[in-house]
Amino acid sequence: MVSSSNILSRAAVAALALSNVATAFWRMPCHGRTGLARIDPLVDTGEISDHAHAIHGGSNFGFTASYDDLMASDCTSCSVKEDKSAYWTPSLHFMYANGTTVVVPQVGGMLSYYLLYGENVKAFPAGFRMLAGDGRLRNFSWPVPDPPKSNWSPEESTQFALSQKALGFNCLNYKAEAEPTLYRHFMPDKKYLDANCADGLRLELFFPSCWNGKDLDTRDHKSHMAYSSLVIDGDCPSGFETRLPSLLYETIWATQAFVGAEGQFVLSNGDPTGYGYHGDFINAWDIDFLQRAVDTCTNPSGRIEDCPLFTIQDDSESNSCKFKMPKKLKDEDCAGPADGLCGNVPIQSGPDYASHLKAGKTESPSLSELPSSTVAPTLVPTLSYTSGGVSVTDSQGGGIVVPAAAATVRVADEAAAPIITAPAMYEADVEDSPKDGKSRSTSRYTSDGAEYHVVIEEEVVTVTATTTTTPHYKRSRHIHHRRSHGQGLKVL
Ligand SMILES: *[C@@H]1O[C@H](CO)[C@@H](O)[C@H](O)[C@H]1NC(C)=O
Ligand SMILES: *[C@@H]1O[C@H](CO)[C@@H](O)[C@H](O)[C@H]1NC(C)=O
Repeated sequence: MVSSSNILSRAAVAALALSNVATAFWRMPCHGRTGLARIDPLVDTGEISDHAHAIHGGSNFGFTASYDDLMASDCTSCSVKEDKSAYWTPSLHFMYANGTTVVVPQVGGMLSYYLLYGENVKAFPAGFRMLAGDGRLRNFSWPVPDPPKSNWSPEESTQFALSQKALGFNCLNYKAEAEPTLYRHFMPDKKYLDANCADGLRLELFFPSCWNGKDLDTRDHKSHMAYSSLVIDGDCPSGFETRLPSLLYETIWATQAFVGAEGQFVLSNGDPTGYGYHGDFINAWDIDFLQRAVDTCTNPSGRIEDCPLFTIQDDSESNSCKFKMPKKLKDEDCAGPADGLCGNVPIQSGPDYASHLKAGKTESPSLSELPSSTVAPTLVPTLSYTSGGVSVTDSQGGGIVVPAAAATVRVADEAAAPIITAPAMYEADVEDSPKDGKSRSTSRYTSDGAEYHVVIEEEVVTVTATTTTTPHYKRSRHIHHRRSHGQGLKVL
């Protein structure tokens, strides 16, 4: 048995050996949802939003929530008491063939990763707000999965292309190989979900992290920010040299609850394709505190428990934190069952850009106001999808992975450890082993189609390299009884 500081330093070695990019991060669980409502203080300030959102974070959320309002929140639905920020995304709904909709059960609230890519990362300033994604988009311009990043043409690297690649729809099946983050940029159709995604669908949204250094917000809530050249890593474009923490939202929806039911999944903004997925952020941290966290909470485990600055609350506190529902919305139930979507949002499948839905309305626009391609409800055409993974039948039956010799590198043997030269994506899980009660942490990097797993188990540090293109590597698998990203919730 080694001391915990020894474990941590070994973990740090593993991260350094694996990557030449900054990979410090923490993963903020927001297990409670403060509400589900047509409120969006960023885009529809002071008005009823045209569509519903799943909302997390500080309790002083409302039609006009500002930095000061949120900072004065009585509570937060996130696990760190110092974080009163607001995080919100459209909710996912199931529409039965007869037009009745219900909200899909959300699993474990959401996670917001604070990834510290780039040099000299600055805390979000007071009053900082931003939007990622485009709610009206219904078309995707590029191949899926992404070609290797080193091959991206200038056209594939425009801000528009990068912002489309910043969306992910991760098919969850904990018995199979996990898909990489931001692997697929559209929502699979129901047939695909029913057949493959036994544990639901994880919606992912990566926010831009390159700031123009002056504007706290802009008219479109986007122009003060830019994506770095490779979405997650890479360089900031000129004029946007200030690096802020890179936010990645993950929200899991239990789509498997609808296996066998006739109908389709649709986002609350009337989007059955996923291209119009988006999310919003209003910073509400004390800025000096956040800067200290950025500078010191660099443990590669990503666990908030490993940052000594944070005051951590338990899930019962997070779950009991709710915002006060405004009077205007107190009779509206966006969870359903209801006839159609909350706010009577029409389904628009594209590929044309969806029509603008007006805020402040309680009724939908009449169909004559909408482009002719809009029909509600309508079923999504089947989207072609090819798995980038190699299918490998797991024979290890759960527990910690002992990978094949060819793919195993002891961290002690640093020279042999793979060096990721391309930017890495990060995913980390912490499991309490069902078998021996030991605590383990697994980090997963994805880079150019290759996956790198770092498993930290007490004094044993094992690095596993696997690849989707060289099948002689045996792929490691996630632990069968794992907690999904530490969310600790399993949908039955
Ligand atoms: C529509 O179908 C669903 C599933 O069968 C059912 O639960 C719901 O009550 C139906 N709605 C109406 C208005 O009949
Ligand atoms: C959808 O995207 C493709 C690829 O960029 C483009 O050729 C096509 O015109 C777009 N369709 C619409 C309706 O915008």
